Amino acid sequence: MLKSILKHIVYPAKSVSDKKLAEIFAGKLVVITGATSGIGEALTLRLIGAKANLFLIARNEEKLRLLCDKVRENGCEARYKAIDLRQREELDAWCETLKKELPHVSFLFCNAGKSIKRSIYSSLDRMHDFDRTMDLNYRSMVALSLSLIPSLREVDGHIVYTSSVSSRYPFAPGWSAYHASKCAANVWCRTARRERKKLGVKVQIAYMPLVHTPMSDVNDTYKNLPAFSADEAACILLKLAMSNKFRYKPWWAL
Ligand SMILES: NC(=O)c1ccc[n+]([C@@H]2O[C@H](COP(=O)([O-])OP(=O)(O)OC[C@H]3O[C@@H](n4cnc5c(N)ncnc54)[C@H](OP(=O)(O)O)[C@@H]3O)[C@@H](O)[C@H]2O)c1
Repeated sequence: MLKSILKHIVYPAKSVSDKKLAEIFAGKLVVITGATSGIGEALTLRLIGAKANLFLIARNEEKLRLLCDKVRENGCEARYKAIDLRQREELDAWCETLKKELPHVSFLFCNAGKSIKRSIYSSLDRMHDFDRTMDLNYRSMVALSLSLIPSLREVDGHIVYTSSVSSRYPFAPGWSAYHASKCAANVWCRTARRERKKLGVKVQIAYMPLVHTPMSDVNDTYKNLPAFSADEAACILLKLAMSNKFRYKPWWAL
């Protein structure tokens, strides 16, 4: 009972109709990173309903193939790239070809990410945790954005970044690697917003609160807390992309 009241107050229901989504996304090319699970998968399913053409990115090739089949069954175009976005050389080489591969992109959802909770003292021999988290949550977002900005400019496109509301309170013990990477990405997006005129692309941030996904549900505490569903989080990203706003944040976030 208390959980459902809290859900209602702290995580009020989010929805958007397929009809409304189709008005904006039908026939447009949308690129999504982290499409195979959680928020990204929910986003992909909603965009399939909206008849968008999709380019999906993640590591799990089997899942990417299944999702692309669904897109095609719906009469739309689908492509995918199975890639570990932390692999700098592979990513940079692919970004070079991507520019030519996708001349017009309407929306780039930079959503792939990984959270990690470990204290600094427990990380004394784990520099790789900081490198990998930064490579995925920050560097890959910047690399893909730089490569696709010319294609996004062609059609007044948007970059939508899935950040975390927790990165607005970045000094929480245990979260140094995750928050540093999310804060770096936030700063990049906020700077891009100030450069909007020259950039020719709208950059938007969703400061997402807790969402029940495979990532958050590994933690038993989070699993039992009220939170948005993955579909509700997808609706937040889609509504942001459809709006002129720079950011989404929950009403209670300072
Ligand atoms: N869940 C929350 O409470 C919450 C709250 C705030 C912000 N967020 C943010 O929301 C985004 C999505 O998270 P989620 O909760 O939906 O997590 P999730 O269910 O674990 O999904 C993460 C996605 O990222 C992809 N990914 C992970 N590592 C990758 C890599 N090295 N290379 C390429 N793709 C990779 C995964 O695909 P593969 O495994 O197939 O590669 C998967 O599709 C993240 O940026 C996260 O920081 C989540």
